[in-house]
Amino acid sequence: MKIAVLPGDGIGPEIVAQAAKVLEALRGDGLKIELEYAHLGGAGYDAAGDPFPPATEKLALEADAVLLGAVGGYQYDNLPRPLRPEQGLLRIRKGLGLFANLRPALVYPELVNASSLKPELVSGLDIMILRELTGDIYFGQPRGIRTLDNGERQGFDTMHYSESEIRRVAHVGFQIALKRNKKLCSVDKANVLDTSMFWREIVTGVAQEYPAVELSHMYVDNAAMQLVRAPKQFDVILTGNIFGDILSDEASMLTGSIGMLPSASLDANNKGLYEPCHGSAPDIAGADIANPLATILSVAMMMRYTFAREDIAQRIEIAVRKVLQQGLRTGDIYEAGMQKIGCAAMGDAVVAAL
Ligand code: IPM
Ligand code: MG
Repeated sequence: MKIAVLPGDGIGPEIVAQAAKVLEALRGDGLKIELEYAHLGGAGYDAAGDPFPPATEKLALEADAVLLGAVGGYQYDNLPRPLRPEQGLLRIRKGLGLFANLRPALVYPELVNASSLKPELVSGLDIMILRELTGDIYFGQPRGIRTLDNGERQGFDTMHYSESEIRRVAHVGFQIALKRNKKLCSVDKANVLDTSMFWREIVTGVAQEYPAVELSHMYVDNAAMQLVRAPKQFDVILTGNIFGDILSDEASMLTGSIGMLPSASLDANNKGLYEPCHGSAPDIAGADIANPLATILSVAMMMRYTFAREDIAQRIEIAVRKVLQQGLRTGDIYEAGMQKIGCAAMGDAVVAAL
C-alpha cells in the first residue's frame, strides 16, 4: 500500500499525524504500508511557489492512494487565484481524475445530542452523498470577468455536464446504493437548468441497468429543505459538483460533528484521495485541540475503497466507536460528563483501541 501523505495547512499536519499513527500501528500488524510525504495547498506555495507542486503531482500519480489533511489559511487569502490553496485541491482532483466524491453523513449514537436537530430526527441517520467532483461549473469554460459593449463589467461561469461524465458517476451511485438500502435520489435543478434536464435524462437511462435500485429525483432547493425536515428519507444522494458542495456541508451539520466525517474521492479504478470533510481551521492550528477522527475515519474509507480491506476498515471504525464509548471527546464534540482530550491523545486512544 503506497500512500502519498499530504498534511497541507492549518490543523492538517496535526490530524494527519494521528492518522499516520493508525497506519503505523497497522504496519506493526504486518500490513505493507509505505508513507511518503509531500506538500499541497499553502504548504506547497510556501515550499515551491505552487499549491500543487510538480513533486506532489508525481508522488500522487505514483501512489495507490492519497491521504490529505486540509488546505487553506488566512495568509494565502490575498494571493492571485491560481496560487491559492484551494486551487491545489481542485487541480489534484482533476489531475487524478477523482470524479466520484463520497461524503457520508453518519450520526453516531454517542453523539446524537451534538446535532442542532432534534435527536429523533437524526438518530440512526446514515446518508451517503455522492458528489460529482471534476465537472460542472467548477471547471466549465469560458469563465472570467469581462466588459460588455455598454461598458459594464460582468462576471461569468459556465455550467456543463457531458453524457460520459454523468453516466460514470451515476453508475457509481447505483452501485453504492446496491450495497446499502437500494435507494438513490438524484438531485438537480431540472425545472430551470438545461444541464440538469440532461443530467436527469442520463441518470434515468442508467437506472435501467439497476432494476433493484429505487431511483427518485429531487430539485436541489427541495433537497436542501428535506435534509433538515426529514433527513432519514435519504439513503444515497447523487448530485453534481456545485449542488454536492452545498448539500454535503448541510448534511454534515445534521450530524453535529463535522470533525467526525471522512470523505473519499475516487477515480475509475478506485484509486482515491481521502480527506476529512472539514477545513484547515487556521484559528486552532497548532493548539492540539483539533478532532483527528475524521482523518482517521478517512483511512478506514481508504482501506475499504482503494485496498478492498473491509476487515481493516471496520477495525478502525470499531476502534473509533470504542473511544467514543469510553467517553473521550475533543472539544468540538464535548458534552458535560465526558472527558475532554487533545488531538494527539485522541490519536493515541484510537491506536490503543485498535
Ligand atoms: C469542499 C470545499 C472545496 C470545494 C473548496 C475548498 C475548493 O468546499 O471540498 O467541499 O468547493 O470543493
Ligand atoms: Mg465545500
